[in-house]
Amino acid sequence: MKQTQKRKGEHVDIVLNQDVQGHQSNGFDAIRFNYYALPEQDFHAVNLETTFLGHALKAPFMVTGMTGGYTDAQKINSEIAQACAQEGIVFAVGSQRAMLEDPTLSKTYAVKQKGLFLCGNIGAYQLKQYSLKQIQWLVDAINADALCIHLNPLQEAVQPEGDKNWNGILAKIADTCDALRVPVIAKEVGAGINVTIAKELQKAGVKAIDVSGTGGTSWSAVEHHRHGLSGDVFWDFGIPTASALAQCAKAVKVPLIASGGIRSGLEAAKAIRLGATLAGAASPFIKAQQHAGVSGVRQAIQKYKHELKTTMFLTRSKDLNALKKAELLK
Ligand SMILES: Cc1cc2nc3c(=O)[nH]c(=O)nc-3n(C[C@H](O)[C@H](O)[C@H](O)COP(=O)(O)O)c2cc1C
Repeated sequence: MKQTQKRKGEHVDIVLNQDVQGHQSNGFDAIRFNYYALPEQDFHAVNLETTFLGHALKAPFMVTGMTGGYTDAQKINSEIAQACAQEGIVFAVGSQRAMLEDPTLSKTYAVKQKGLFLCGNIGAYQLKQYSLKQIQWLVDAINADALCIHLNPLQEAVQPEGDKNWNGILAKIADTCDALRVPVIAKEVGAGINVTIAKELQKAGVKAIDVSGTGGTSWSAVEHHRHGLSGDVFWDFGIPTASALAQCAKAVKVPLIASGGIRSGLEAAKAIRLGATLAGAASPFIKAQQHAGVSGVRQAIQKYKHELKTTMFLTRSKDLNALKKAELLK
């Protein structure tokens, strides 16, 4: 088994069995909605529908990229994809680097189905190592609607085998945005994107940004469990999700995704209020899939939907446009 495949399996194993959550808040607990004791609307009429990159969704959620590239990953991706298709939300596979190294692994990512907005995924660093033709192949091989490019310099820095020369990657992202036949989404993996980076990414041509901040899965923590280097020192390093989102929302026009410790529909509502188009999460859904397959993931998505709807009901927000203007307590 190649190192990339082995590492992906280890990552999932650690996320499922060890403490890897940020020890500090994602920042949303400081935000409170003004509550309307007379909602003057029917809970059942609250509308969660939205569009993302031209695609209609039943609710503003995304299961962000996690896995692929080893045998067990096929079942994980397939079951989460089925749940996302049925619930009308976006799904992204994890890094497709393993299939560049061994094309027979494509099947572990190929989970496109009717009605599903499916995103591919590759590390920004891999843009230095592979041709634009190969990157386009990643998209085509799984029939993806968009490609997520992940920025993970913190993770690479605390990983002994990590890629450490990050010169010239922004230009590679711009070339990819120019050449690719689908939109590019730039994302962090849990350490956050600040306003400077968001502006640079927008200028490079990305069509959406997932700010993926601290407060949820910590990749420093994951790497610390793998080899005990400095991951513990950097466990909470980075920008809390709410803060990353607030800075980026003021400065860029592309749709923003908020992930990083979003563990309820109430937090998703706060993210949308601060300017996110979608709220995303990763680890809760792989846990739900391991626990109860497609129905477990569907239940987890339905719980997020219910909590988002409840928040909208109680803030007199009949739809997501109204939620974006809902009053906050000072
Ligand atoms: C098991 C696991 C594997 C992940 N692998 C990837 C990956 O391959 N590519 C990527 O862009 N992000 C990856 N992530 C990061 C998530 O997409 C997300 O940005 C981050 O975990 C924060 O969300 P959370 O706090 O809801 O888990 C992974 C997350 C988990 C939990």
